[in-house]
Formats: sequence, structure tokens, C-alpha cells
Amino acid sequence: EKGGFAHFMLKEIHEQPRAYRDTMLGRIDESGRRIILPDLHLTDEKIRSINNVHIVACGTAFHAGLVGGAVIERLVRIPVMCDVASEYRYRSPLITPDTLVIVVSQSGETADTLAALREAQANGAHVLAITNVVGSSIARDADDVISTLAGPEIAVASTKAYTSQLIAFYLFSLYLAQVRGTQSAEEIAHVIAAMHALPEQVESILANVDAIKAYAEHIAKHEDLFFIGRGLDYAVALEGSLKLKEISYIHSEAYAAGELKHGTLALIEEDVPVIALATQESVLEKTVSNIKEVKARGADVMALTHEEHVTDLLKSVDQAFAIPKTLPILTPALSVVPLQLLAYYASLARGNDVDKPRNLAKSVTVE
Ligand code: F6R
Repeated sequence: EKGGFAHFMLKEIHEQPRAYRDTMLGRIDESGRRIILPDLHLTDEKIRSINNVHIVACGTAFHAGLVGGAVIERLVRIPVMCDVASEYRYRSPLITPDTLVIVVSQSGETADTLAALREAQANGAHVLAITNVVGSSIARDADDVISTLAGPEIAVASTKAYTSQLIAFYLFSLYLAQVRGTQSAEEIAHVIAAMHALPEQVESILANVDAIKAYAEHIAKHEDLFFIGRGLDYAVALEGSLKLKEISYIHSEAYAAGELKHGTLALIEEDVPVIALATQESVLEKTVSNIKEVKARGADVMALTHEEHVTDLLKSVDQAFAIPKTLPILTPALSVVPLQLLAYYASLARGNDVDKPRNLAKSVTVE
């Protein structure tokens, strides 16, 4: 049942190239220039009238929402607010009929996310669900659904569901941009072409896990570590940190790299591992200066970046791992993969039950 893999989590990590392809299938026209979402009830007129977007979810699905929100803002230039469902549902969010609410849930059964959906509908908003389970409560109640085609996810730690949610967000963001005319046909075709390359790029990451495995065995000996990054790298840092915490039980925090010096820098001492995500070229220089700040305090820094920056970064960090190059907005679909593997191998090195971490349930149907 685990298809020759030692754990469901590892199997599911390896299923990602297939999940990316399946989630894209039939949603891009044959010319590779347009997004088609034929099941959507949202009319073009409605799409043009949306004046803000709320993205609501829990845990890993929320982290996918952070990436999706940033991509929508960048491609469509609509204000986006992301929130965790347990907060959103109780703070009387400012929802109007021109708000599009996107809920994200692998299981489609998360109690807080379902309650957020109902709150949004009660306030007249159109609710789009991105979910992995057809027929789930959230899929049934939402006004629109974009299904992720990750297939059943058994391991408690979510991997292929998260990355499939990213793919769904890319498709939907491009669709909004297409309808509202905020990106040219050429630009949309350019992003689509880069999306088509992602599955093979993930395969190439999965074909070379030795360095990540060795690094995981190194961090498994530590009790505290930090992830830092800026922009989309920060969103992925949050997910990498959550994954590591939940299955390795190593305490870890993800910080927006520029925010460290406002307090958390006090925790950086000799030999504390810091994982620096440095894939976003527009803020690379800034991230490098934050890396130097932690290095100066003795941190043991690993950088995740692109091949072209490795030599330079190695002047400031202890180790660097390269991921294949794609467009900056698509990078999370690649950069998260080594972090999933890191969590997996760290958990394994600590002798934990990888697929069934303590205190956690796969589907959280109580608030
Ligand atoms: C972490 C994880 C959880 C879920 C969260 C939401 O690996 O799996 O954080 O992402 O409980 O679950 P869904 O997506 O089913 O609503």
C-alpha cells in the first residue's frame, strides 16, 4: 500500500510530480495560452466586480493560502487578506458581497474552516473552496470548488495536498488575471509554460536527496532552529517550520528575515541552525544581509537557493542547497520539497512515528 516506500509521507512526497500534472490537467487549453475552469460558477462579470479577497484556512492549507494571496496580489492587483479560520470566524471580518472568500482545505472537513465558509456566505460573499476531497462538507457547501487532484493523503503531515493547493492557486490567479486583463496573453502563456516544467523539476529534486538527508541527520541533534526568508520565501519558511515541528518535534520558528532584529535575534547563539530561504531575487541582497547578522552571532546557516547564487552565498553561509530555477512566483512549488524531505529525514533520525505524529489528527473536525 505504501508502494515500496517506508512511509506514506515519503510516498506522498514522491507523488507530487503526478499531483501537479493531474491538478493542471484539463485546466489549461491546448494552445498553452489560456486557463479554462469550466466548472466555475463565478461569471466574468462577477470576477470583474470583486474588490477584495479573503483567504481562510488552517495549518498547512493556510500556508498555501499565504502563497496564493501574494500571487493574486501580484498578478491581479486586488487587495488580499489571509487569515487562519479559528481567528477569522470570531472577529466579524469585513465581508461584503464584493468580497471573494477562498477557503482551502485538504480534507474539506476542518471545523473552523467550514465555520468560516458559513460566516462568509451569511455576509453575502461568494465562497470558492480549494479542496482535495470531492463530496466533503466544504466542497458541498461552497459556491465554487477547485479540486486539487493530489489523491488520498494518508500521512498526517501534509505534503502533496499543499503543493497541489499551490497549483490550484496559480491556475486561479492566472484565470482572474485573464478575465480582468491585468496580465497580457504573453505573460500568461509564459507562466503556464513554466508551470508545465514544474513536475520534472520536482523529479530532479527527488533524485538527489543525499545532501538533504545528511543535513537532516545533523539538525536532528538540535532542539531549536530557525527558518528565515522574505516574501514568498517567508511563506515557505512557515510551512517548512511547521512540517519540521509536527513530525520531528524539534522546536522551530519561521521569521520574516527582516523582522529578526526586532527581538528574535536574541535567541541566535553559537551553533543554532538557521535555514535561510534565498530564492527570491528581488530581495536576495536583503536576505543576505540578514544571513550575515545571524552568522555574526555564531549561527550555523544553510541556504536554499538557485545554482547561480551558490558560490556567492557560500561566502556567508555554511552550506547551500540549490533548487531548479523557475519564475519567482512558482518557486514555492519547488523550494518546499527539500523542506518536506528535511522534516521527513529528521523525524526518521529521531526514531519518531513519521506518519502518525503525537497529538495530531489528520482531519480536525472539532474546533
Ligand atoms: C500539517 C497539516 C495541518 C492541516 C490542517 C488543515 O501538515 O496537515 O496543518 O493542514 O489541519 O487541514 P485541512 O487542509 O484538511 O483543512
